[in-house]
Amino acid sequence: MRIAIFLIIVGVLGGDRASAQPTYSREVSRIVAEKCQICHRPNDIAPFSLLSYEDAQTWAEDIKRVVSERIMPPWKPVEGHGEFRDSYALSEEQRQTLIQWADAGAPLGDPAELPEVTAPTGEWQLGDPDMVVTMPESYTPPRGKDDYRCFVVSNPFDEPMYVKTADVIPGNRRIVHHVILYLDTRGQGAKLDEAEPGPGYTCFGGPGVDLDINAAVAGWAPGSAPKRLPDGIAVQIPKGAQVIMQVHYYARGVTAEDQTRVGLYFAKERIERRLFYVPVLNTRFTIPPGNAIYPVTANFPIPPLLDARAIQIFPHMHLLGRQIIVEYTEPRQTTPKPLIRIDDWDFNWQGFYNFKDPVPLPALSNIRLRCTFDNSEGNPRNPSNPLKPVGWGEGTEDEMCVAFLGVVFERENLLPFSTIQQR
Ligand code: HEC
Repeated sequence: MRIAIFLIIVGVLGGDRASAQPTYSREVSRIVAEKCQICHRPNDIAPFSLLSYEDAQTWAEDIKRVVSERIMPPWKPVEGHGEFRDSYALSEEQRQTLIQWADAGAPLGDPAELPEVTAPTGEWQLGDPDMVVTMPESYTPPRGKDDYRCFVVSNPFDEPMYVKTADVIPGNRRIVHHVILYLDTRGQGAKLDEAEPGPGYTCFGGPGVDLDINAAVAGWAPGSAPKRLPDGIAVQIPKGAQVIMQVHYYARGVTAEDQTRVGLYFAKERIERRLFYVPVLNTRFTIPPGNAIYPVTANFPIPPLLDARAIQIFPHMHLLGRQIIVEYTEPRQTTPKPLIRIDDWDFNWQGFYNFKDPVPLPALSNIRLRCTFDNSEGNPRNPSNPLKPVGWGEGTEDEMCVAFLGVVFERENLLPFSTIQQR
């Protein structure tokens, strides 16, 4: 009984305090730890750390500005259109707390109320990886233009390996735009590498090798944080397959070298299903110059018998992209259900988004993608001057309209190469 009364009193006090002036020790430190530090920490993509009270105090005015204008945190999916794990979006209450705190002069409050410091993870966000894949030697991309370069990394394992997630540490964050790991089961990448001088080889439209259905292992773009796949699910690296690391460089006005590293985290549990990346895409479009709202759509029907579950989604456009919406309609239904929606597309903030709960996609469901482009002068990101018609391609001045859906199939045993290891 005493305990109950005590709890009630604490509860009431707690309620009072929450409405009082926010302090760093009580509220702000917790919000920053949850929503800002994945990027604002040493050696990560943000230009400064937000680890201590001194950091937050120094930046208080800017924090107020960027959260008021919703520039930070750069979480893009629109609420209510798909639910994602590890969202770093701020709730309205958290936003107001940060603003009030800055307005009050960024008070520290009572340091006794600071949260316990969690041990730093070091340079890898999920702790030490099981294997680090490094570009064999450093590479200096040409200045001022897009350069897609592929590096072949040998695979020392003599059994299939199951990857839960990967983390990427760009050797030079100023020039590395994105990194995708592909699988090469036929040793073609090594031949391409030999045929070209210098480290790696040029690989404009993909890795330049024949790809199997489970071709991609992982991707990284600024703003994406590594997330482990759900239990029992992994991406398979088949025995003998080599990993090709495709790095997209854009070295604006600098000559700099890069040696990017990828950390792989292998499954420790028994794997029941492989993750496949299904591309929903339209490659045949031309966006007329001057058109500010140009829609491009694509449909992808889930094949008969292959009930699927969507685990992850990676929407992708380039600089003319404004909005991207992915929905699905179940067989015999007419109302589409949301997968993801991004209204203010920003090429610099792309992510692999993991659904909070995997989304069942029954066989014969239709996935529908809709991209909207702005190829007008009013688009400050438009790379073309003068304006020109723009179609599908991998260069910065080309466009893409694609969403890669990371799915598992309920009847994995119906799929080709279905050799899940029983461990
Ligand atoms: C996903 C990564 C990421 C997260 C999460 C993030 N930031 Fe940032 N932040 C950046 C990067 C990168 C920049 C550098 C500016 C840019 O490139 O857009 C930045 C810049 C800033 C700036 C300076 C902006 C300017 O205009 O001078 C402030 C202030 C800031 N962030 C505050 C925050 C706060 C507060 C949070 C959490 C509520 C947060 N950020 C969450 C990546 C992030």
